[in-house]
Amino acid sequence: AGKKAPAGSGTDANGAKKLVFGFSQVGSESGWRAANTKSIQDAAKAAGFELKFSDAQQKQENQIAAIRTFIQQKVDVIGFSPVVVTGWDTVLKEAKAAGIPVILTDRAIDTQDKTLYKTFIGSDFVKEGTAAGQWLVDAEKSATGTVNIAELEGTTGSAPAIDRKKGFEDMVLKDPRFKLVADQTGDFTRAKGKEVMTAFLKAHKDINILFAHNDDMAMGAIQAIEEAGLKPGKDIRIVSIDGVKDAFQAMVDGKIEVVVECNPLIGPQVMDLVRKLKDKAEVPARVESKEGVFTKDKAAAELPNRQY
Ligand code: AHR
Repeated sequence: AGKKAPAGSGTDANGAKKLVFGFSQVGSESGWRAANTKSIQDAAKAAGFELKFSDAQQKQENQIAAIRTFIQQKVDVIGFSPVVVTGWDTVLKEAKAAGIPVILTDRAIDTQDKTLYKTFIGSDFVKEGTAAGQWLVDAEKSATGTVNIAELEGTTGSAPAIDRKKGFEDMVLKDPRFKLVADQTGDFTRAKGKEVMTAFLKAHKDINILFAHNDDMAMGAIQAIEEAGLKPGKDIRIVSIDGVKDAFQAMVDGKIEVVVECNPLIGPQVMDLVRKLKDKAEVPARVESKEGVFTKDKAAAELPNRQY
C-alpha cells in the first residue's frame, strides 16, 4: 500500500497524472516569438504540466490541424496564439463540444461568439501603435514641412498588424504634415523587412520616417537603408515595436529612435490561467500585459536588463 507509480512523461514524481496543455504557436518568425516560445516552455515545465507544443510556421491551416489533434488527444486545456484574426469559429466549436477550455495568448480573434474561448492574455496592440504615433507627433512638433512615412506592416490579417496600424495612423495622420507614402507587409521577419524596405527606397527618394510593426523588420530595414548608402537614424529615422536586445543595441548605435515594448514573457501567467481553467475556477475574460516605451537616450542603461 502507498506504493507510487514510477514517474513517466505523463505523471509527476508522486505518480499523479500531469495536466496536459496543448499549445499551438504561430511560428518562429521573430526574436519576440523565440522569447515567447521559451517563456511558454519554461513555465509549463516549472508548473509540472505536460506541454504538447506545435509550431504552425505562420499558417492558419497548421494551427487548425494542431487544435484538432489536441481535441483527439483529449488534452486538459488548449492554448494558441492565432496567426490571423478570422476563421476560428468551426474548430473552436469542436473544442467547446469536447468540453476542452481554450485560452488565447498574445493575439486576439474576431468572433461573435465569445463563449468559444475562456480568456485572452496579451498586449493591447492598438495602444502600442498609438504610443509609437505619439512619439512621432511629439518628436516632430516643430516640423514645418511634410514628414514622409513608410510603414512596414506585420503579417496581413493578424491582430498586431491590424491594431498597430490603426493606433499609429489614427494618432499621426490627422495632422496633414504627416504623409504615409508607402505601406506593405514584411510578415514580421528580418528577410522580408529588408526586401520590402529595399523596394520602398527604390520607389521613394524622400522617406523621413520608418514605422516598423516589429523589431525584426526594423533590423532588416536598417540593412536595406545602409546598403542604399543612407544612414538610419539620420537620413531615415526608425520607430519600432517589441524591445528585443538587437533593437536596444541599434538604439545605442543611434540607428533606431524609439521602441515600444511588447512583452513576450507571459508563460508564467499563461500557466496560472491554464491551472485555473483545469480546476474550473473563475478567470478574467482579458488579461493585459504591462509594457513601456524606450527612447534611444535610455537604451544603454536598459540594455543589460533586457531578458529577450
Ligand atoms: O503578436 C506579437 C508579434 O508577433 C510581435 O510583435 C512580432 O515580433 C511577432 O512576430
